[in-house]
Amino acid sequence: MVLILLGPPGVGKGTQAVRLADELGGAHISTGDLLRAARRDGTELGARAQKYMDAGELVPDQLILDLVREHLAGIDPGAHVLFDGFPRTTAQATGLGDVLERSGRRVDRVVLFEAPDETIVKRLSGRRSCPECGAVYNTFSSPSRVEGTCDRCGGSLVQRPDDAPATVRRRLEVYRDQTEPLVSFYESAGAPFERIRADRSVEEVYADFRGVAEVAG
Ligand code: AP5
Repeated sequence: MVLILLGPPGVGKGTQAVRLADELGGAHISTGDLLRAARRDGTELGARAQKYMDAGELVPDQLILDLVREHLAGIDPGAHVLFDGFPRTTAQATGLGDVLERSGRRVDRVVLFEAPDETIVKRLSGRRSCPECGAVYNTFSSPSRVEGTCDRCGGSLVQRPDDAPATVRRRLEVYRDQTEPLVSFYESAGAPFERIRADRSVEEVYADFRGVAEVAG
C-alpha cells in the first residue's frame, strides 16, 4: 500500500505517519526528516538544503526527487510506504508517479489533513523534538514528563529553528502557493482521495486515518 499524507506544516502528518507505520510496519518516508538527517551528517545535500529550510522555502525538486528515488530503492517492493511531506509540488508528484510506475506500484490513497492556521501556529510554537531519537512532543498537548528532557532516551529537547513564528508564516504561504495545488492535481487525475479533519485529538484523527488505510490496503 502506498499512501501520500498531504497537509500544511504542523497539521500532524508526522505524528500520524509514525503511528500507522508502527502499527502496520512498512516505510515512513518523511523528506523533512531525511533532509534534517543529511544536515546532521554533514553531507553535501544537507549543506545545499540548509538555506531553503531555514528560510521556510522548498528545497529544489531535483534534489528531493533524487533523495526519494535513492531511499525508495532500498525498500522492499511489497512493503507499505507512507510519504509524509512529499510530494510538495506538481513536479514532485509527476516524478513520484514515474518512479512508482517503474517499480510496479501506484498511489492507493492521498490523504489530506486539514486544520485552521491558528491551530497550526499554536501546535508549532509548542513542538519540541529530541535530536537523539527523533521523538516529538508538544508543550500544550503532549509534554514530556520532565520539561526539556526526552522520556524515551533522556536527550535534551529542542525547538526546530523553522518553527520560529516568522518562518512558520512563510511555510504556510509556501504551502498555499506550491503544495495546495496538489489537491486538484490528484483529484483531477482521479486518484483515491480522502480529507481528514486534523483539529481534533491525536486519537480521533488516528481513528479516521487508520480507517482510510484499512480500506486502501
Ligand atoms: P517538514 O519537516 O516536512 O515540515 P512540514 O511539512 O512543515 O511539517 P512538519 O514536520 O512541521 O509538521 P507535521 O505535519 O509533520 O506535524 P507534527 O506531526 O510534527 O519540512 C521542513 C522543511 O524541509 C520544509 O520547509 C522544506 O524546506 C524542506 N522540505 C521537506 N520536504 C520537502 C519537499 N518534499 N520538497 C521541498 N522541500 C522539502 O505535529 C506538529 C506538532 O503538533 C507536534 O508537537 C505534535 O506533537 C503536535 N500534534 C500533532 N497532532 C496533534 C493533534 N491532533 N492535537 C494536538 N497536537 C498535535
